[in-house]
Amino acid sequence: MNKKTFAYMMSFGIKSVLFRKKDPILGTVILTDKCNLSCKHCSVNNITGVIHPYSKVRDEMQTLYDMGIRILFFCGGETFMWHDGDRDIRDLVIEAKAMGFMIVNVVTNGTFKLDLPEADLILLSLDGDRERHNEVRGDTYDLIMQNISEATSDNICFYMAINKINKDAVREVCMTAKTTANVRAVSFNFHTPYPDTEELALSTAEKKECCDVITEMMDQGAPIFNLKSVFPYLINNTFPVPCVQCVVIEDGKISTCGRCIDIPGLCERCGYFFVAEYTQIFKGNLIVIFEMLRTYTKFV
Ligand SMILES: C[S@@+](CC[C@H](N)C(=O)[O-])C[C@H]1O[C@@H](n2cnc3c(N)ncnc32)[C@H](O)[C@@H]1O
Ligand code: SF4
Ligand code: SF4
Repeated sequence: MNKKTFAYMMSFGIKSVLFRKKDPILGTVILTDKCNLSCKHCSVNNITGVIHPYSKVRDEMQTLYDMGIRILFFCGGETFMWHDGDRDIRDLVIEAKAMGFMIVNVVTNGTFKLDLPEADLILLSLDGDRERHNEVRGDTYDLIMQNISEATSDNICFYMAINKINKDAVREVCMTAKTTANVRAVSFNFHTPYPDTEELALSTAEKKECCDVITEMMDQGAPIFNLKSVFPYLINNTFPVPCVQCVVIEDGKISTCGRCIDIPGLCERCGYFFVAEYTQIFKGNLIVIFEMLRTYTKFV
């Protein structure tokens, strides 16, 4: 993170905490729900199959920028399937940076060639060792690892959604993040149980076991892009929801926090680590803020 971005984020954080401001800082544009995979835990793929055109995506980026958002995520569906004429995901990242977004991240399933050096982070979903990843995501592990080894930049961060299938593979993913070239870190989420994937949700005891493993791996020096000071809130789902500093825009519709906000009862069972982390930061939780400063300057 450069000095200008750091100073901006600090000033935003101080204003939000001191004056209890609720302005958003993090925004996500959903480029498409089209996807080449159909993972067992996912409820958002291939519902419409529409790839939103460049003009619409650009307008949505501008809308978020005008709202004061400076951390931008592109998500899907599969982001690397986004095209409009000659334009692809790389053009969108370059455009977002030119527009003034300070941090631009892309979430991907990693099954396409990775040539995205302009992104701050490529959040690449890895859901276990080969066996468990493939059980969740189909036979894609070897292709993903090949694409990572051929990536043109080292800005990759694994993104693992922990569920009943892969909960015992957290250690392996940490070790893979530590030992794989071009991978900077791993970031975790717990499965958020949409109505059609309820059976994959972890119990409180299982979440605690996962957090214990993550803490142990952090202590052993594994590169983990999460804040252990929020684990108790995540295990017990005692963080405030939704996160008002985050918004998502999909097909012109803006939602606070996530596109999941309208699903009855889901927020109370939310497994997204960013929600627990951001809500504690903006509540002014000093322990979380100090850990965040240490962690973010290491990985972004
Ligand atoms: C919806 S995918 C879109 C981007 C890309 N196709 C991918 O798989 O990374 C974004 C992230 O959400 C995660 N995810 C999907 N359903 C989830 C759920 N119910 N709870 C938690 N994470 C989930 C995926 O594993 C992935 O890391
Ligand atoms: S690759 Fe991403 S969008 Fe596609 S099905 Fe899997 S989690 Fe969902
Ligand atoms: S708090 Fe609610 S809207 Fe936000 S990510 Fe969690 S489930 Fe989705």
